[in-house]
Amino acid sequence: MRPNSYIAVLKEYPVVSHKAWEYADKSDILKLDWNEAEIDLPPPIKDALIRYLEEGKASWYPDVANKELLCALASYAGVSDTHVQYFEGSDCALDYAVRTFVEQGDTVVLASPTYDNVRVYIESTGARPFLASTEDPFAADPGALLARVPRDTRMLYLANPNNPTGTTYSRDQIAEILTSLPDTVVIVDEAYAEFAGSSITDLVDRFPNVIVSRSFSKAFGLAAFRIGYLVSTPENLRHINKIRNGKNISAIAQVAALAALRNREYMEAYVREVRKARAFLCTKLARLGIESRDTPGNFILIAVPDGPGLRAALADQNIFIRSLDHLPGMDAYLRITVGTMSSSARVASAIEAIMTDGAYGSRAPKTGAV
Ligand SMILES: Cc1ncc(COP(=O)(O)O)c(C=O)c1O
Repeated sequence: MRPNSYIAVLKEYPVVSHKAWEYADKSDILKLDWNEAEIDLPPPIKDALIRYLEEGKASWYPDVANKELLCALASYAGVSDTHVQYFEGSDCALDYAVRTFVEQGDTVVLASPTYDNVRVYIESTGARPFLASTEDPFAADPGALLARVPRDTRMLYLANPNNPTGTTYSRDQIAEILTSLPDTVVIVDEAYAEFAGSSITDLVDRFPNVIVSRSFSKAFGLAAFRIGYLVSTPENLRHINKIRNGKNISAIAQVAALAALRNREYMEAYVREVRKARAFLCTKLARLGIESRDTPGNFILIAVPDGPGLRAALADQNIFIRSLDHLPGMDAYLRITVGTMSSSARVASAIEAIMTDGAYGSRAPKTGAV
């Protein structure tokens, strides 16, 4: 059967290297390709999940307007509970936001190179994604970005910190962008905000054109549950709520998110560990002559002469990292998710062994490869 004309020509988001799921025994695997966390959930979250199961109400649909969760999210984001809504992952929240505000023929700008999933949602509405890249994709330059935003742009998507470049705009820079584009819906994707230690959620009071998306999949380590949320004006959320299906946010995801917010110390400790591990890994790689790019998220970038070769050699050791060759201008880079110190030590030793091995060593990079 023929799909609608937008889906027919749509280039799907490349779901690559999810190989870890093919292994029956996952204990030895380092899954460092999707920026997930390496956390076993702390006892208070597991206990809350068990209590929910013991209550025997799994046959009920989930709470579609979980007041406790909304209040906890609002307090965490520093806004009132009329300014937040939760969804089945921030990906879905972005999809809803795009479908709510964008229509056929609209221009939607993505500050690029960036998280490519959003492009798919945009194209599926018949809108035109415009990948706005500035001369230096690693520099946060509002002037350069604004100069690339065409007039009548309906929506601007800005991941902050950005995946994969790590580029991070300051609060003042984002306020400048919001002020310059009063008629454009600006989505600020803060999936990695906990690692960066900064957020602009409080700007939603000043700017009706901003929607902030946030995730429980990264620093909170709840990717399997699929839960995220939006922070915006009650008016914007009212429109998005018209198409949100509250039944889709599973009860266990809601239980886990609420328990995570009430027991945040585990997340804060993890953020500290990731920061330490990023610095450790970058230093180790520098000693091997590999210049890495640190980011404020839970990932770093490296550039080596034979990226596919290094990625394949790491995969042979059950270490999965991400190539970025699907993103314009990023094909020279590999992205490595950074988790615990011990996994980073294993990554560093594995790369060292590969680089000194004859097969790869003959193509070993020179210092300053990035
Ligand atoms: C910038 C960005 N936004 C959103 C997501 C997806 O988050 P979620 O798991 O909440 O859908 C990711 C995942 O990698 C991401 O990098």
